Amino acid sequence: MELHFKKPSKETRDAMCEAAKSIDYASNRGFDEIRLAQDKISKTTGHEYVKILNSGNSAILAVMNSFKNKIMVPDQGGWTGFRNMAEFRGIEVIKVPTDLGIINPETLEDTINEHKPEALFITSFAGYIAEQPVKELFEVCDDKGVILVEDASGGIGDKEKNLGNGEHAHVIVASTGSPKIVNVGSGGFISTNNNELFKKSKVLLKTLKANPVTCAGISEEIKNAPQILSKTGEACNILKKEFKSAVHPDKRGISIALKTDDPKKTGYLLRQELKADGRGIVTVCPRYERVLIDAVCLEIKNLDVQCLENDTLKEIVRIVKGIID
Ligand SMILES: Cc1ncc(COP(=O)(O)O)c(C=O)c1O
Repeated sequence: MELHFKKPSKETRDAMCEAAKSIDYASNRGFDEIRLAQDKISKTTGHEYVKILNSGNSAILAVMNSFKNKIMVPDQGGWTGFRNMAEFRGIEVIKVPTDLGIINPETLEDTINEHKPEALFITSFAGYIAEQPVKELFEVCDDKGVILVEDASGGIGDKEKNLGNGEHAHVIVASTGSPKIVNVGSGGFISTNNNELFKKSKVLLKTLKANPVTCAGISEEIKNAPQILSKTGEACNILKKEFKSAVHPDKRGISIALKTDDPKKTGYLLRQELKADGRGIVTVCPRYERVLIDAVCLEIKNLDVQCLENDTLKEIVRIVKGIID
C-alpha cells in the first residue's frame, strides 16, 4: 500500500508558475490575481468582503485585533492560534465546556451570560474529528450580540452548506497552507459581511497580505475543495465504522480519533506502519487541537484523495486493527 501526502493539484502549481512569470509588478502589482481569488472565496463562503493574507494565523491575528477584552474558545478541539493571538493582544480567553470538543448551544448560552464575551472562535470540525453544530451556535451568538468566528481551514467547500457558510458565521477565517482543504502551500483568508472589521485592522491587513502568486493558487485550488472535503469525509466515515473505539462515531470528520490506553506506544507503532511519502499521519492525544483524552488520531485529511480508494482503506483498517484491537 502506498500512501501519498496531499499536495496542490497540477493545475494549481501551473497557475502559480504562470502567475510568477507574468505578473507585472510595475503596472498592476498582481491586483488581478488578488481580485480574482477574492471573488472566488466570496462565492464559496457567501460573504461580501474578503482579504487574503500570508497565513491562517495572520488571518486569526487580524480578526483578533478587532476585539478588546474577552473572547471564547472551546475547551478542546480548537486551534492553539486562537489562544496565542488573544494572549498576544492581551485579551482574556474563556473556555467553553464541551463534549469532547463539541459545543452544546445551551452551554454556550450559559457561558455567554456568565462572562459577556465579544466573540466565539471555533473550528468547523472540533479537532478535525467531528462537525460543530455551527448554525445552532451562530443563532445563540447572533441573538446575544457575540461575533462567531469560524476557522474553516477544514470546512471550506462543504456541499451540505453547514460549514464555511457565511449565512451562519459572522466571520470565516481559513488557512490555505499545507495540508488544508484549499491546499496551496501557504496563505490564508478572512471573509465577512462586516467591512468595519477590516477598517479596524487596516495596518495589519496591509502588513500581512498574501503574495499574488498565492492568490493565483487559491483561485485554482478552491475549485477542488468540495470534492476533496466530501471524499475525505466519506473515507473517515468508512474507517470509523470499523472501530468501536472511534470518538464521535456518528459525526462527520476529516480525521479520526481512536481511544487507546497507551497512546504513546500505539502512536509509535502506527507511525512505523502508516507513512505518506515519508511523513507521519498520526497524532498522539491528549492534545488541545484534537481531543483531551488518551487517543490517537489518523490524519486522513493529510492524504492525497487519490489514495482514499476502498482497497487502501481496507489495508489501513487491517494495519490499525493489528495494533489497536
Ligand atoms: C484549524 C487551523 N487553523 C489555522 C492554522 C494555521 O494556519 P497557518 O499555518 O496557515 O498559519 C492551522 C494550521 O495547522 C489549523 O489547523
